[in-house]
Amino acid sequence: MTLLDIIKHRRSVRHFLDRPVEREKIMLCLEAARLAPSACNSQPWKFIIVDDEEMKDRLCHAAFSGVYSITSFAKKAPLIVAVVSEKAKFLERIGGLIRDTRFYLIDIGIATEHFILQAEELGLGTCWLGWFNEGAVKTILKIPKDRRVDILIAVGYYDRGKIDQPHKREPMEKITAFNSYDGVGE
Ligand SMILES: Cc1cc2nc3c(=O)[nH]c(=O)nc-3n(C[C@H](O)[C@H](O)[C@H](O)COP(=O)(O)O)c2cc1C
Repeated sequence: MTLLDIIKHRRSVRHFLDRPVEREKIMLCLEAARLAPSACNSQPWKFIIVDDEEMKDRLCHAAFSGVYSITSFAKKAPLIVAVVSEKAKFLERIGGLIRDTRFYLIDIGIATEHFILQAEELGLGTCWLGWFNEGAVKTILKIPKDRRVDILIAVGYYDRGKIDQPHKREPMEKITAFNSYDGVGE
């Protein structure tokens, strides 16, 4: 499979099989995330893997309750990864202030997608999760108060047959132009 094949194959998975994920596969996904680029090579991330059944149940119950219960499909994932946003390097933070850009969010986005594409290659389904109770996640995983958890990843095996619809994406001509924004289609 080429990289583009893997990208085309990936979907957000919201139904998981009751099958544990091998630690060796998770280590490969973490290696892909570890090698991600970041502004000033800041690497402002930590990945907390929750695969202990009891711990995961406790985490999911707290993270996906109340207003966040729309994400409760993730309770069935055998594994949840909390992507912790660490303090970026001084230079990245200064650059971000001057540019008014939160580079650390770009960094963790790239690292998370590296993880997800590696998972896809290994036959694992994933879903980005941005809608969860961050405070509860931090308390349960003992994440320091001054860190953020902007993203969780649900990971597990899945039944591919259930989600084989085409990607819903804008056509190429609507989102690209060469040499000037003027060429971008409406
Ligand atoms: C930053 C981010 C946050 C997301 N948060 C959620 C979420 O909380 N719940 C959910 O079901 N999907 C979530 N998604 C998945 C998107 O809904 C999904 O990627 C999009 O609809 C495109 O579908 P596809 O991933 O199957 O191609 C998130 C995706 C991203 C990139």
